[in-house]
Amino acid sequence: MTARTLDEAPLAGKRVLVRVDLNVPVHGGRISDLTRIERLSPTIRELSGMGAKVIVLSHFDRPKGKRVPSMSLRPIAAALGEVLGMPVGFAEDCIGEAAATAVAALRNGDVLVLENTRFHAGEEANDPDFVSALAALGDAYVNDAFSAAHRAHASTEGLAHRLPSYAGRLMQRELEALDAALGHPKRPVMAVVGGSKVSTKLDLLGNLCGRVDRLVIGGAMANTFLAAQGIDVGKSLQETALHETARAIMARAKAANCTIVLPIDAVTSAEFRADPPTHTIPVDRIPPDEMVLDVGPESVDALSAMLKDTQTLVWNGPLGAFETRPFDAGTVALARAVAEATKAGTLLSVAGGGDTVSALRHAEVLDKFSYVSTAGGAFLEWLEGKTLPGVAALG
Ligand code: 3PG
Repeated sequence: MTARTLDEAPLAGKRVLVRVDLNVPVHGGRISDLTRIERLSPTIRELSGMGAKVIVLSHFDRPKGKRVPSMSLRPIAAALGEVLGMPVGFAEDCIGEAAATAVAALRNGDVLVLENTRFHAGEEANDPDFVSALAALGDAYVNDAFSAAHRAHASTEGLAHRLPSYAGRLMQRELEALDAALGHPKRPVMAVVGGSKVSTKLDLLGNLCGRVDRLVIGGAMANTFLAAQGIDVGKSLQETALHETARAIMARAKAANCTIVLPIDAVTSAEFRADPPTHTIPVDRIPPDEMVLDVGPESVDALSAMLKDTQTLVWNGPLGAFETRPFDAGTVALARAVAEATKAGTLLSVAGGGDTVSALRHAEVLDKFSYVSTAGGAFLEWLEGKTLPGVAALG
């Protein structure tokens, strides 16, 4: 990692703008998952502890440059205060008079949250005047929002060019984990990629073929790959228009010495609902009126056996329709096998992106992987091999 960290940050007494990701899930006016807030709080605590004046910047949701009261950060700032166990101030705007007055009143160690940066169109446009207005509030900039680092916005990218910049502790942990998983991994490396659509993961699959030794394809994406090889997948969800693409990915993997691993058996049903009648069968015997909804036990055993001599694992996406019983079984069993190998010290395991966190939480292994990223889009773009502007700007 080339970015400077808080170890090299002489920030006592300084006004420090800290970009975090407070874009937490809110349902019925309540925060349904505090994980992101818990993960970013060590950085804020450390800065406060070293006597910095901590000014927290974040977006929430997508207000598209307008002040949308339901997208205010005020309630989330209160939740941050509860997690930190210390008072957290709030300013009605992230630039201008309201922000300047609140910042001027800060004492060393105080924490202040500024209102949603996306209430201003200049945030997403990375507008130089808006960047200047933010920069005027601070003496230094800390970016702790890996999960927003795929956005080249004023508070995620622009500020890094204006103020002395540092990676926060969460950003540092994410970058270290991701580097250990794909940057400089111990081999063999296995990637597990699940989910429903090949079309949304083309870049990701293309990049991974050239970087990992084993590429496990699960979820409905596997149906497209099986069908592309001439296997009848019955009524299963698949993308018929992508058979040629799937064959091209397989050819590319072969040329790169990457083994593509597809399910050998499947759990099928005629209906997609909880607890319907099911069959567990080899993938070449899928009944024409049934659909694949999970990988079968033989596939899980084969993957678990492969884990024994795998040193590094990257996981994105469930193997089956894990939200509907009993089609969570394959994902849960493999997740637990990964957790065991991680505990035994034979495997470094990194997971992230969208549904993956829910699936691993459901399997009760969220804290048993080496690292689970709470980033969605940023994690996917990183798996695609893209440069994340927020990370690049930290130098
Ligand atoms: C996320 O939740 O993945 C990040 O906060 C980015 O949010 P966005 O997709 O609205 O930019």
